[in-house]
Amino acid sequence: MKEKLELILKNASDEINNAKSLQDLDDVKLKYLSRKGELNSIKKNLKDLSDEDKRIVGALANKVSNELEDKITTKGEELYKIELDEKLKSERIDITLPSDFRPQGKIHPLTQTVNEIVEIFQGMGFSVMPSEYSPEVETEYINFDMLNFPPNHPAKDMQDTFYTKVAPNVILRSQTSGAQIRQMLNQTPPVRVISPGRVYRCESVSARKNNLFHQIEGLLVDKDITFADLKGILNEFVRIYFGSARPTRFRASYFPFTEPSAEVDVQCIMCGGKGCRTCSGTGWLEVLGSGMVHANVLRNVGIDPEVYSGFAFGMGVERLTMLKYAINDIRLFFNNDTRFLKQF
Ligand code: DAH
Repeated sequence: MKEKLELILKNASDEINNAKSLQDLDDVKLKYLSRKGELNSIKKNLKDLSDEDKRIVGALANKVSNELEDKITTKGEELYKIELDEKLKSERIDITLPSDFRPQGKIHPLTQTVNEIVEIFQGMGFSVMPSEYSPEVETEYINFDMLNFPPNHPAKDMQDTFYTKVAPNVILRSQTSGAQIRQMLNQTPPVRVISPGRVYRCESVSARKNNLFHQIEGLLVDKDITFADLKGILNEFVRIYFGSARPTRFRASYFPFTEPSAEVDVQCIMCGGKGCRTCSGTGWLEVLGSGMVHANVLRNVGIDPEVYSGFAFGMGVERLTMLKYAINDIRLFFNNDTRFLKQF
């Protein structure tokens, strides 16, 4: 027994020394020290020995097993270090290599303009209309009839408006003004809202016109609202948006849903009013349409025009962006050429 134990100690020690990996070491451990290992089979046979031998052989078996455990631990640490070093070497990252190019995303210039304008009007007490009041697929009834368009108005013509196959009178809205109707049907005055969104027109595309563009609609209805309120709010808007107290001009105009109606011009930002190509020599740039809400429109939504009055306005987001940044082709907004987009 004693010789057998010494042989085990010698063989196991050799095998531990020769282990090349943690896996080899595990195999040695299994072979000699596990429950089914060689040392255990000797310990199991102790019961057949005399008491005297049991003591001696038992003690020796324990000594051998402790010694082997120690050797395995020491060798294990050594092998672990070697394996870790090798792993670190093979997985080394060269931090001086150029990295993947990840261009930074940006907010689209039209969205930037919308955000900016929304913020300006929020500063003057307007809130953004719930989007369910301004669907892009709209009825002729809301887009035109409720806004006091006469039945044969040319804007209703197939030339200007996209008709759908959903139903005869379902269209892609040609303006955001219908949102006024839905808002007033859902809220009694005071009303003070703006509503940005997409509109569609059946026109040939050019540097100045696109089939799809964006408008921001505004509506304020309350008691004792006058044209002076309209002028005050819109002048303030122009001042903040264009960055200085730029001269404005309220030019008499016509919209079916406002009376009186006015188009608002700002002094040309390119030539300062002297006259240039951008302003076609007039010195003025048209920036929005506006007016006092027509009494018929108020009646259509059940608001008494004897008690309440209000004003409305609508502006083109592309046009305002083009004027501010001197962009000469509306199609640039829709081509998604990053050389254009990253300038904003
Ligand atoms: N909806 C008009 C258009 O698309 C713009 C407009 C003019 C809106 C006057 C208004 C307004 O609210 O009062 O040309």
